[in-house]
Amino acid sequence: MSKNHWKPNKETNVSVYQQIFIYIKNKIISGEWPDGFKLSSQRKLADEFDVNRSTIVTVLEELKSYGFIETKKGSGTLVTYNEESDFSLRTINWDSLIQSSIYESNNRVVQDINDFELEEQFIQLGKGELSPSLFPKSTMSQVLSSISNKVNYLGYEEARGFRPLRKAIAHHLRNHSIDVSENSVLITSGALQALQLISLGLLKTGSTVFLGEPSYLFSLKVFQSVGISLYGINMDKYGLNFLDIPYSKKYENRSAIYCIPSFHNPTGITMPSFRRKDLLKMSEQHNLLVIEDDVYRDLWIDTPPPQPLKSMEKTNNVVYIGSLSKTLSPGLRIGWVVANEQVINHLADIKSQTDYGTSSISQLIAYEWLKDNLYRDYLIEIRRELKFKREIMISSLHQHLSSLASWDIPKGGLFIWIKIEVNISIQRLYLDMLNEGVLINPGYIYGKRYRNYIRLSFSYASEDEIRHSISLLGKKIRSLSKLS
Ligand SMILES: Cc1ncc(COP(=O)(O)O)c(C=O)c1O
Repeated sequence: MSKNHWKPNKETNVSVYQQIFIYIKNKIISGEWPDGFKLSSQRKLADEFDVNRSTIVTVLEELKSYGFIETKKGSGTLVTYNEESDFSLRTINWDSLIQSSIYESNNRVVQDINDFELEEQFIQLGKGELSPSLFPKSTMSQVLSSISNKVNYLGYEEARGFRPLRKAIAHHLRNHSIDVSENSVLITSGALQALQLISLGLLKTGSTVFLGEPSYLFSLKVFQSVGISLYGINMDKYGLNFLDIPYSKKYENRSAIYCIPSFHNPTGITMPSFRRKDLLKMSEQHNLLVIEDDVYRDLWIDTPPPQPLKSMEKTNNVVYIGSLSKTLSPGLRIGWVVANEQVINHLADIKSQTDYGTSSISQLIAYEWLKDNLYRDYLIEIRRELKFKREIMISSLHQHLSSLASWDIPKGGLFIWIKIEVNISIQRLYLDMLNEGVLINPGYIYGKRYRNYIRLSFSYASEDEIRHSISLLGKKIRSLSKLS
């Protein structure tokens, strides 16, 4: 085969893979590379086009699936196209479409955990959700019957969300010293959509988001899928240590800080006031957007967390996120973003292009909970229950893991972040526990450096399940440490 002088253009929006596919396809259809023509080896093609070999492998697979080429043992890859070739029956190469899609797939372990979390046979020792036994069934029934009388029509909502609900959220936020009107509130389909709207609407491709490592955000591909990099920053006992952020011109106007200052997921750390103030000062100095993810705020157990960054700022640098998922019900898919009106209108416009607004029924339910203080009263009960369950988990941990692991007691939220102090494979531990019917979250899904950590949740499993699983965990860690 003659040498190709053409090379894909790496500066355009069309992927290198697509450009090479089209280039070779045109060569074949034009007859320049006729039926029986032998293509260069994968390695040579990769050199000629100046791309990775994996790109060539994907292109060749795609060409094969369309019947343009075939690989014959001993003869290499040959063109099989001629004018009589019938391509109408060829099936789509779904694999390659999926591999090259804009949105990245979750990592395999996260996908598995998402599946296993739905299976009743497992004891859920990692799940970031309140137990169904804490679900306020009778109040929810009252709420549902009260809204059933009010629904006369379910039309498209205002993209920013049902105005009375936005007002009720603004009112609720005043308890946290965030003083905004409903025009600064956007209702989203959970906090996750809030993150997605921010990634699409406020940051450009090539931006960097600095965040404490480990972090919940590392277990998703929301930001990475739109070409934004996550940059893990060390955490200390006060949370994200912003002094470790490598400020430089290259990050100006193209970066943000993401933080979970109250009852951080997965570490449970709460950032004290002084760190919040310093972080804000720094964001003002460097003109950095701060994404404050405060979905665990209402789940304080001992004392309320310090005021949100949003309530303390002098500028308008903070975009604030809340949700009912962790407190009331993740199935409602009700979250919110609080920011200045210009930002809210822009994010609402993107939201309306994505889903035309959050479900009206969910918004009506949320409104009923918030408007008459049902939500506030319910939280008092939940805190009591969480305190009780946290105590059970901590005492089981002391009983079974004290010589094997270390942890801090979180002052709220759902999680205990556990460092395994003996040398074992956490992947093995995760699989062994799964075999025994217990699902735990390995720490490495929240940050690659956290290979000797696990995240446990004290909120979902029952008392007996917690005791049983922690005892089992102790036994498994012990036996794995003897093996290593
Ligand atoms: C820190 C944090 N932010 C956002 C979310 C997503 O919450 P939602 O269910 O409201 O989308 C989660 C869920 O685990 C979370 O832990």
